[in-house]
Amino acid sequence: MDGFRASKRGRGGGSPRPPGKRGLPIIGETIEFLRDPTAFTTSRHDRFGSIFHTHILGKPTVFMRGAAANHWIYAGDGKYLRNEWSPAIQRLLGQTSMAMIDGDEHKARRKLLAPHFKRTVMGECVPPMLRVARKHLRRWQTDSELGPIAIVPRMRALAFEITATYVLGEFSDLGVELDAFSRDFETTTNGMFVLAPVALPGTAFARAVAARERMFTVLDDLVRRRDAEERSSPDVLSTLLRVRDDQGRPLPRSTIVDELHLLLFAGHDTTVVATSNAVFHLAQHPEVAAKARAEQDAMDTRAYTLESLRAMPYLEAIIKESMRLIPPIGGAFRVMTRDEEYGGFTIPEGWRIAIGPRSVHRDPELYPQPDRFRPERWLDAAENDARPPFSWIPFGGGPRTCLGMHFAMLEMHMVLAMLLRGHEWALSPGQDLGHHNLPFPLPKGGAIVELRPRDAKGEAKARV
Ligand code: HEM
Repeated sequence: MDGFRASKRGRGGGSPRPPGKRGLPIIGETIEFLRDPTAFTTSRHDRFGSIFHTHILGKPTVFMRGAAANHWIYAGDGKYLRNEWSPAIQRLLGQTSMAMIDGDEHKARRKLLAPHFKRTVMGECVPPMLRVARKHLRRWQTDSELGPIAIVPRMRALAFEITATYVLGEFSDLGVELDAFSRDFETTTNGMFVLAPVALPGTAFARAVAARERMFTVLDDLVRRRDAEERSSPDVLSTLLRVRDDQGRPLPRSTIVDELHLLLFAGHDTTVVATSNAVFHLAQHPEVAAKARAEQDAMDTRAYTLESLRAMPYLEAIIKESMRLIPPIGGAFRVMTRDEEYGGFTIPEGWRIAIGPRSVHRDPELYPQPDRFRPERWLDAAENDARPPFSWIPFGGGPRTCLGMHFAMLEMHMVLAMLLRGHEWALSPGQDLGHHNLPFPLPKGGAIVELRPRDAKGEAKARV
């Protein structure tokens, strides 16, 4: 561990608490943290070492960096740590969804949904995903004949329909007004990241609460109708309706609604961020894009199947590298449920632990030239084997590892492979090339690109 200043002794006279400073009374260092979380943690790690404490968002909070620290955190879920959500998210996310429950109940709920998200069953997702992706990319192509298009909002529409189709069923059969539903979905998500979750009229949080009520009513109605139909279909909703507990009881309808909303929420912005940033990185690195297109052009088959989509090592390396540099979820919080030692320090019960992939993803010892976008690093077996577990954590780890990880990887492979085969693109000049920090690390300019179709020989056609 690099040089640190120890602070007060931990309870019981054991090892000291992690070093750090608390900042102002009540608000602590919240403002500095929210202004730029990366700069905040980097400067304090430089000053205090690999583990430090601060006071943010109402609680003493410990930040630790390194693969071993990540391992300790993920291994502690359900033992000395429990999940913690912000008050705004607690109000807007369904109270009984998997993200909100802990221990055995959480384990049982994951087990129930796991059959839909296992790596081995992903083949079933390919045809509906392909249908939706084709429909959207055709529209991108037509619209791009008129001028540059913004990738981020388009990726939103595409990713939402893909996830919703898998979770709820074919959109055309749902009897749900899609535009209004997805608007309410976005308004609710925006409310999750406000600092003061007070629903005063006219605030983003009040709008989010109202949108949530409308959206949950639509979902509740959908669940009721589907239950009455008694038909089985391959979507997640069907499974949630079918399962019975030990005493033969179905899940309460409100729990099904909570779970559906969680899946839509957890699967949406994350995938939009990851895929949009990969498109952005490819635009900034034409030599990488050319190599990726060569991989696509050399494929034995033009068919999109689970096997062919998993036989694209260079594209996979691009996706991994893109999420290494810009992890779609910048962090999560846990709370200590008892005093516990780590790294020579006692961390007291009730303190919060911050998990953040950014520092480990940019560690020069794990990733030489860490700020460079270099997908090739993922193709070097020796380099990969030398990295300890939990050095790459865009999907988290431990009992709460992303449930939709294989689904998300498949979706990203498919959308990016289709884009690379059919198109070339360049970032339009004059846009802000920086990235937002919160709530999601998306290009500030929306990633506006000039998209040109490629012909069957892989040549880019000029726009007329
Ligand atoms: C690139 C896309 C994605 C990324 C980077 C991502 C990342 C994550 C991360 C980091 C967590 C753990 C959070 C924590 O430790 O507290 C998580 C949890 C979760 N993710 Fe994802 N996710 C993605 C896509 C998806 C998709 C497509 C779905 C489903 C359709 C999904 C469903 C979930 C669920 C249900 C959880 C909660 C698991 C639990 O609490 O046990 N995610 N995700």
